[in-house]
Amino acid sequence: MVPRWLWLNLLGALAVAAVRESLLNVCMNAKHQKEKPGPEDALHRQCSPWKDNACCTANTSQAAHESQSYLYNFSWDHCGSMSQKCKEHFIQDTCLYECSPNLGPWINPADTSWRKERILNVPLCREDCEQWWEDCKEDITCKENWHKGWDWSTGTNRCPHGASCLPWSLVFPHPKDLCEKIWSNSYQYTTFSRGSGRCIQMWFDPQQGNPNAAVAKYYSRAGRGTAACLPLALLFPAFLALQSV
Ligand SMILES: *[C@@H]1O[C@H](CO)[C@@H](O)[C@H](O)[C@H]1NC(C)=O
Ligand SMILES: *[C@@H]1O[C@H](CO)[C@@H](O)[C@H](O)[C@H]1NC(C)=O
Repeated sequence: MVPRWLWLNLLGALAVAAVRESLLNVCMNAKHQKEKPGPEDALHRQCSPWKDNACCTANTSQAAHESQSYLYNFSWDHCGSMSQKCKEHFIQDTCLYECSPNLGPWINPADTSWRKERILNVPLCREDCEQWWEDCKEDITCKENWHKGWDWSTGTNRCPHGASCLPWSLVFPHPKDLCEKIWSNSYQYTTFSRGSGRCIQMWFDPQQGNPNAAVAKYYSRAGRGTAACLPLALLFPAFLALQSV
């Protein structure tokens, strides 16, 4: 007969594996994401790298390219028109946010009315962050945190009273400031490079597949970004100890 401790151990391992698996290939429960990821043949321009497996619909990918779309009615042009090269990074950021099925390890509950979940501390590849900052550094903005504190009285975000439009580099002195502060720590600046398998790429060449799938797998194993594995891993040995007395 198989001893009970062996069964329990197996059960524990399976439970931990199930939690890990649940972090992979998922869509967050936010405003526009699909319930489950799947193929989307018609994803628009910059969102097309995700077409084999995406959390966004073709409509969402189209809207991601507009300065003030129906998605959030959020205007990138709140201090005059944003430069095209800067805008491309915001489009890519929106594509990653709406389309990526590889953000599971960093999905957290959100305390806002318009979404149940958010991402927190997604380790962004340094080039993605640095190039974003580089291409926006001549632009102008009035706020460091673009999630909160706008004047929404007109239906779109306007600079709040007392917040003047300033050069980008005064608002965000370093790339890290931009990537971490703009969306309330949705991203974490890292020194990992694209292709390292240790950071999420906003930009990638789909010819080689989506590199972020392996990154999510790595961090779900490492137990980073989630506390879910820990109680289980601790619980089962304790349970075993109890059973053996
Ligand atoms: C998506 O786009 C299609 C075709 O353009 C349109 O018929 C449909 O209403 C759109 N759906 C949403 C949710 O906007
Ligand atoms: C979006 O913002 C514009 C102002 O730029 C406003 O007229 C419109 O009503 C807003 N749309 C929604 C859905 O709130």
